[in-house]
Amino acid sequence: MAEAAGTGAGAVLLVTGGCGFIGSNFVRWWLENVPGTRVVVYDKLTYAGRRENLAELWDRPDLHLMVGDIADLARVRRTCLEERVTTLVNFAAESHVDQSIAAPLLFTDTNVRGTHALLEVARELGLRFHQVSTDEVYGDVPAGERRAEGDPLAPRSPYAASKAAADHLALAYHATYALAVTVTRGSNTVGPYQYPEKVLPLFATSVLRGEPLPLYGDGLQQRDYMHVRDHCAAIAAVLRSGQPGEVYNVGTGTELTNLDLACAVLDTLGGDRGLIRHVGDRPGHDRRYAVATGKVRALGWLCRFTPIQAVTEAARWYAENGWWWRPIREGDFREYYRRQYAERLTQPGKPEGEP
Ligand code: NAD
Ligand code: TYD
Repeated sequence: MAEAAGTGAGAVLLVTGGCGFIGSNFVRWWLENVPGTRVVVYDKLTYAGRRENLAELWDRPDLHLMVGDIADLARVRRTCLEERVTTLVNFAAESHVDQSIAAPLLFTDTNVRGTHALLEVARELGLRFHQVSTDEVYGDVPAGERRAEGDPLAPRSPYAASKAAADHLALAYHATYALAVTVTRGSNTVGPYQYPEKVLPLFATSVLRGEPLPLYGDGLQQRDYMHVRDHCAAIAAVLRSGQPGEVYNVGTGTELTNLDLACAVLDTLGGDRGLIRHVGDRPGHDRRYAVATGKVRALGWLCRFTPIQAVTEAARWYAENGWWWRPIREGDFREYYRRQYAERLTQPGKPEGEP
């Protein structure tokens, strides 16, 4: 298949949100695997965006950081012109469901309005555009079913709704202006440099601190936990050979319950099962996400980690990299943890089946 314009040798990528979890892993993956290109990271450096996520790479001549908001259209345009950007890969987002329940408007500002500003710049300058989306846009998926790319979107959290809105805008820009847009809808991702608000780093770092693991509800919700390197390789495959106007689901194709995830983390890190605490559930908690992934596999993408391997590998990284997460857990994160968990942990919920 022909290589999509704007990602071969000489390409200049604007990676928005490149200091976040998946964005920083993508930048590392890209620089390791695609020679002869340049990467400009454009990031607002929110609590989840951290320069240290790319600490060892900032001295490279082919990597550059620009601090800014994606909703600041003039600044994005100026950056693209000055840096001669050919390709825009949008990871920037407010990304945590629980935060979207507490403060939803910020999710519209960044995920909808911010993505729209990026699309306007891409339209004006004729850039290749890739939108990093999520399987959460399909909403809750009943057991035995699996969502394909053409299925209707049915988001159920403010986070998922804002991502679905951004998908619609991106695809509308392809239909209306023939902008070279692709979209990936990735499943729950785990790996290095994930902010500890998300379940895997929260549970791993809690075990390492000897603290309880707050499992929402009965813990039998299912997610397709994918390793971040698999997710990054899939995005690169779509950038290389995806068709403009197309959406590609990305995931391992199998699911794990949150209880299984908690047990795998405990087993990997030598923690006691007694650390698991069933706590009050998340409002509107989606029971299951599951996507069909044949379309991205047809591009030649191979998923290397099963969910259990992904979770185990990720948990080990936190055991070996306390330099990264300890300052976070002992800093700003403490206030979030107190708000999110202090009361919940004093009024434990019940596992399913218990009176
Ligand atoms: P993250 O929260 O770790 O990182 C988000 C990054 O975006 C941070 O660097 C932050 O500083 C930056 N950012 C936030 N608002 C910004 C703004 N207004 N302007 C510029 N930069 C801004 O998120 P993540 O987990 O790395 O997710 C990256 C993308 O992948 C998101 O679009 C998310 O919806 C999607 N996604 C995530 C997962 C997952 O499991 N984490 C799964 C599928 C898809
Ligand atoms: P999370 O990592 O927040 O990702 P998402 O909500 O985008 O799927 O949560 C993953 C799953 O873990 C989800 O079913 C909610 C659950 N969860 C807990 O049980 N306890 C927690 O403290 C957190 C943060 C999540």
